[in-house]
Amino acid sequence: MNIGIIGTGAIAEAVVIGLCTKEDPPERILLSPRNEQRATRLANKFANVSIAADNQAVLDESNLIFLAVRPQVADEVLTKLRFRDDQRVLSFMAGVSIDRLKEFVYPTQEVVRMNPLPAIARHEGPILMSPPSQEMAELFQDTGSLIQVEEEAQLETFCAVTGLMAPYFGLLDQCTRWLVSNGIDDSAAFDFVRALYESLGRTPQDSNDKDFGKVATEHATPEGFNEHALRELNRIGWYNDISDILSLLNRRLEGKASFEDRVTN
Ligand SMILES: NC(=O)c1ccc[n+]([C@@H]2O[C@H](COP(=O)([O-])OP(=O)(O)OC[C@H]3O[C@@H](n4cnc5c(N)ncnc54)[C@H](OP(=O)(O)O)[C@@H]3O)[C@@H](O)[C@H]2O)c1
Repeated sequence: MNIGIIGTGAIAEAVVIGLCTKEDPPERILLSPRNEQRATRLANKFANVSIAADNQAVLDESNLIFLAVRPQVADEVLTKLRFRDDQRVLSFMAGVSIDRLKEFVYPTQEVVRMNPLPAIARHEGPILMSPPSQEMAELFQDTGSLIQVEEEAQLETFCAVTGLMAPYFGLLDQCTRWLVSNGIDDSAAFDFVRALYESLGRTPQDSNDKDFGKVATEHATPEGFNEHALRELNRIGWYNDISDILSLLNRRLEGKASFEDRVTN
């Protein structure tokens, strides 16, 4: 399989690292020359990765094409290219529908959307895909937790939750700052918070019943600190606020809200 990638940016780099560090890496990956620095770094690192002369050369020499440019330039970049009907396309572009993609890549008919995350480089994190595809599932096997959904709209629904990555680190930052403001050394505060949340991140893997509510209860000793904090956060509506924010992000992904919109309550 010859893979070609249009747009050698942050997510393309993470995907290439993830695929090339698998036990059975792809035979060949051909990168578009832009971003030159990133493409050169990848080509120097992996023997099966090389750089094409231009975007059309990527297409001409590949049968599976990854689209990894920003949605804002999709029109300008993709309408200049000539695709073939024997190719398959995997798009990482957020918010660009399969119908729209099929117009861009005509006469290619096989188009799949995927939402990998930077942790794919470490073979971690969720990898969303729609529609399900056995070929892509086999290719991305062992590079993270693959979640395949039939309905494209569900991809956007899942994507809303990825908007809580920065807020998650914001929570860790708040805990660290609070410790420091209460006399704890900066470095010790950072190490403590990192170790605590790192261990929590792995905890649900041990749980067979796939119920985070139950995991929360298991961590809340009756009348202990955790039950106290959980009760107060519920009482002040913290978790309802999170749902409202997810709904706002989901509306944005559906094109019904913009960055300027706020949560109303
Ligand atoms: N980052 C993520 O975590 C993530 C996750 C899932 C999906 N995505 C999606 O993946 C896509 C890329 O995101 P990103 O974060 O990787 O963005 P990025 O780092 O900005 O990568 C986009 C790349 O496209 C290149 N490019 C721009 N114009 C081009 C052209 N005419 N021909 C070829 N390449 C061109 C850019 O080159 P220059 O650097 O020279 O401008 C840049 O390297 C987006 O559509 C995004 O929605 C991203």
